Amino acid sequence: MAQVKAKYLKDYRAPDHTITQVDLSFVLDGANTQVTAVSQVRRVNDTAKTLVLDGESLTVSQLLVNGQAHEYREVEGQLHLDTDLASFELTIVTQLDPQANLALEGLYMSDGAYCTQCEAEGFRRITYFLDRPDVLAVYSVRIEADKAAFPYLLSNGNRVDSGDLGNGRHFVCWQDPFPKPAYLFALVAGDFDLLSDSFTTKSGREVALQVFVDKGNLHKAHHAMLSLKKSMAWDESRFDLEYDLDIYMIVAVDFFNMGAMENKGLNVFNTKYVLADKDSATDEDYHGIESVVGHEYFHNWTGNRVTCRDWFQLSLKEGLTVFRDQEFSSDMGSRAVNRIHAIKVIKNQQFAEDSGPMAHAIRPDSVIEMNNFYTVTVYNKGAEVIRMMHTLLGEQGFQAGMKCYFERHDGQAVTCDDFVAAMEDASGVDLSQFRRWYSQSGTPELTILEAYDADKQAYRLTVSQHTPATPDQSEKLPLHIPLDLELIASDGRSLLSQVFSVTETEQELVFSEMAERPVPSLLQNFSAPVRLKFDYSVEQLIHLMRYASSEVAKWEASAALFSQAVWGNVEHLKAQQSMYVDPRLVDAVKGLLLDEALDKALLAEVLNFPSLNTLVEQVGQVDLDALAAAREFLIEEIASGCEDELVARYRELASQDDAGARALKNACLTLLLQMSDAHQVLAQRQYEQANNMTDSLGALAALNQEASQLRDSLLSDFQQKWADTPLVMDKWLTLHACCPGEDRVTALRELTLHSAFSFSNPNRVRSLIGAFAAANPLSFHQPDGSGYRFLTEAIIKLNTLNPQVAARIITPLIQFKKFDEQRQKLMRAALEEILALPDLSKDLYEKVSKALA
Ligand code: ARG
Ligand code: ZN
Repeated sequence: MAQVKAKYLKDYRAPDHTITQVDLSFVLDGANTQVTAVSQVRRVNDTAKTLVLDGESLTVSQLLVNGQAHEYREVEGQLHLDTDLASFELTIVTQLDPQANLALEGLYMSDGAYCTQCEAEGFRRITYFLDRPDVLAVYSVRIEADKAAFPYLLSNGNRVDSGDLGNGRHFVCWQDPFPKPAYLFALVAGDFDLLSDSFTTKSGREVALQVFVDKGNLHKAHHAMLSLKKSMAWDESRFDLEYDLDIYMIVAVDFFNMGAMENKGLNVFNTKYVLADKDSATDEDYHGIESVVGHEYFHNWTGNRVTCRDWFQLSLKEGLTVFRDQEFSSDMGSRAVNRIHAIKVIKNQQFAEDSGPMAHAIRPDSVIEMNNFYTVTVYNKGAEVIRMMHTLLGEQGFQAGMKCYFERHDGQAVTCDDFVAAMEDASGVDLSQFRRWYSQSGTPELTILEAYDADKQAYRLTVSQHTPATPDQSEKLPLHIPLDLELIASDGRSLLSQVFSVTETEQELVFSEMAERPVPSLLQNFSAPVRLKFDYSVEQLIHLMRYASSEVAKWEASAALFSQAVWGNVEHLKAQQSMYVDPRLVDAVKGLLLDEALDKALLAEVLNFPSLNTLVEQVGQVDLDALAAAREFLIEEIASGCEDELVARYRELASQDDAGARALKNACLTLLLQMSDAHQVLAQRQYEQANNMTDSLGALAALNQEASQLRDSLLSDFQQKWADTPLVMDKWLTLHACCPGEDRVTALRELTLHSAFSFSNPNRVRSLIGAFAAANPLSFHQPDGSGYRFLTEAIIKLNTLNPQVAARIITPLIQFKKFDEQRQKLMRAALEEILALPDLSKDLYEKVSKALA
């Protein structure tokens, strides 16, 4: 077992030395790459006598201080060099083997191209360095390689020199004028197709835009380019932020651990978030590209110009940048539907993280492996925390806060507190209690009781908050919770819509002059990432579905109505009574289906009823089998009750060519097929006539709910058609992973041997194994433990191959507390086996040891 020491936020110390300038020279030559780093080191703590540098798996061939050989010690993960010079030049030459780097951190090869991933702590795999975000240096980079195989040699900033070296080799030099932390360094060398364009900033500077993709994929780069130009224009109009270099490059690579990376001037992207055309990418893929291209672009200010002091502050850049990309998507498309998607991520995944062994605050207190903290908590709950400040300050106050933040901190590495202070100072809003959102983990429960006094015409809400203890933190304090609510009259009139600040453990809101008991729409727009506990009646929820001003509230009400009905039936099953569907629920859905004025994408969201995972998240303990039976029963009842309307709506939508219509059509199809095989022919026709991936995949996904001959034959047709397009084969792998059935694992084991699958490519692993564990709960949780075994075998393989990916796909296995005793036993046994591995990675150690604690 490697070092397993946790680091603590409370132990943060400013560095003893800093590096102001670094000149890097790369000689790229197959498995043998030479890196020369010449750093200008300055001592900042006068008493420091040793320079301590970070480094991992490095071979040093030379080390010089001011041009003279100097003694040093290599300690595990660090290099110590004794000196009391106040400033000096440090030269280190290291040798690397990028071909052997399957962990995809540092310098590695993706399908014949060299590329880097340095966030969070990957730069230390390239050279010994002060690999911490509060050391900001100016970089110049020289890259030398074979010219035919690597015609493009890229790095951050501006290209300042290039030339031929004879022998078929060439070089390019880059200079980045903006000081940056090492995690924003990037290098790419390869042969690509290049899509070029330009953007003129509002102050009139012209910026060259370049998207590099694998040869033959140029036609799939246009949407990414368009998204980039939209992002640049949007950041100018909404945030008054302009791009600052003369060139912006995006490179798409096949082998990538995450979505994308915001390296200064040279973003590296997973191909999944660049490549798209109508035949091969779904509407969802298009949307994902727009949002990730935006996200990385927005980092140029929130992350790069102002960066993090230390990695505990990750949410400073990620929460804020997710908030910004969500706002971008909402301004480009449907605000309500974007909000619904964001809410689902919190309720399904973030709440699950909070109630599992890895619960942490958006600014964690302690970390073993930083890569484990690129989480839905830091990113998505972090974005909710920013959104709450936006709600409390309003757009104007928030923008004033942003302006103040940049005025104070441009060019610095700062903390989450610095951000909140800027918001507070610019707006005059007191955020002292609000700051607890940064340090407190767990999901707050907001319980609301209503009372109506007809004599006094007074309506009263009693609001109390409580955050259950989490493994990392037992004491919880009351939070400052913005509660957005609307009161609606029986005739549907809106009586009031307002944001209240809940700050006490318990407090009352009293509304006078209420001539009748209103229906409350609570926590509108999900105004805080909390679990709302309010005992809504069926009538109230139906009233909200009809009259709530907010479309998000209508969706929330429909989901709550469905969830309540599911849990009611789970109780019936437990009592051995037969299940029951309230005809009002069916009528409410029918009413929406008949409402031609309702936004189609929104209706599609309503018809995609809460998933099994969503429902599991609503309770502390779950009987998975009863839950699945109840959910299926209800969907079948609703679908058969609305069959005519679903068929009519499906037919009417079939010929419409927009994303909303496609989403609704596929939602109708899914319900119809769940209800009866007789509708299979609709899916078959849709698949055969499809002229876009959304329709093809929609048909397959609808069929994939159940084993059938038609399903099998269309899946194999799909495979033959797309055998040469890995990103589409990923969809095929995921369909297999998500098909229900008891013997799934046998089929999936075979698929790991299929040419479309590979353990060394993270996209393949996520599509097959990750999707199975996370999105097919019934098969994953087979009572015989076969699902757990399959995941465990894969994790053991990935532990040495790619620890980051291994630690990511293990998530469903560590969240075992909700399941029955038998399943828990099997899951724990699997985790024990992983914990006992002789060469267990830090990544897995952190998660598994916490799960078993
Ligand atoms: N900063 C990147 C983003 O959010 C994520 C990169 C994280 N990579 C990692 N290996 N932990 O856009
Ligand atoms: Zn990010």
